[in-house]
Amino acid sequence: MDFPTFLSDLLQRAVAAAPRVGEPAGPLASWAANLLVLRSVPSTNALGRRIVDEYLQEGVPLPRAVLVAWGQSAGAGRLGRSWVSPAGRGAYLSLVRPVADGEELPTLPLLVPVAVARALERWLGEGRCRIKWPNDLLVDGRKIAGVLLAGVGGSQEDAAGGVVIGVGVNHGQGADELAGVSERGATSMTLECAEPPALPELVWGLVVALADELEHAGEGERAARRYQELSLHNPGDHLRCRAADGTVEGIFRGFDERGFLRLELTAGSGDRLGGEEVLVTAGEVTSP
Ligand code: BTN
Repeated sequence: MDFPTFLSDLLQRAVAAAPRVGEPAGPLASWAANLLVLRSVPSTNALGRRIVDEYLQEGVPLPRAVLVAWGQSAGAGRLGRSWVSPAGRGAYLSLVRPVADGEELPTLPLLVPVAVARALERWLGEGRCRIKWPNDLLVDGRKIAGVLLAGVGGSQEDAAGGVVIGVGVNHGQGADELAGVSERGATSMTLECAEPPALPELVWGLVVALADELEHAGEGERAARRYQELSLHNPGDHLRCRAADGTVEGIFRGFDERGFLRLELTAGSGDRLGGEEVLVTAGEVTSP
């Protein structure tokens, strides 16, 4: 597929999502109304942050928007890593969304990976895509997708800012192209699906799933439940995590409503005592 075909396919889907006269607008319509498809951009997340910044600085209400790139020259990953984004080989998109209510913010890191996993399941098969804390999407232990969230402006108590929700999914890459891309090994939709979606179908499937799931922003209990259902980690598992202040190891006791990981430390976790329960708020699970 070439870029003009990709572009026109996505634009047709956006037009089809517009509400019909006399019919109520569904959750998708407000996103589809502001769709930007770019041949090449350094990073859709960086562009999204700029948009949010400028709207907030000008005091103009931030609209919902979807930014899609055919390729990125400086795709960003979590923890300062890069996201390799060759043209036409992956889904690279960012959603820009206003955050009016401080309750919504802590639920987004849970809802977004849930939406991505549910979208991918349609082609991968139910239960094949699992979330490794906090938001890596794995198929049989290999990374297929990642999520990068950035809040801009506002505060949790009195949020009137915006959020940029970045999603990258490996689509057309073969095993040779993915070698060395991720610590645990990486995979792609083409490698994993009997009938992989075409790239615009995948991108639009992600937008639809995100639009649906984001309708539930602020519903902490629901978000934590859905996240746990798709999590790779089950209570009782022994986990090792890279946290802000070093490595911690222990028995996983579940997630709280913000998606923080509850860990009962085993002896030998730095200078802490075995048996102590800690909340890991940022970092990543490194083992198993
Ligand atoms: C991760 O490290 O797992 C997160 C990767 C997120 C990549 C996506 S691709 C679209 C958006 N733009 C970026 O620069 N990054 C995100």
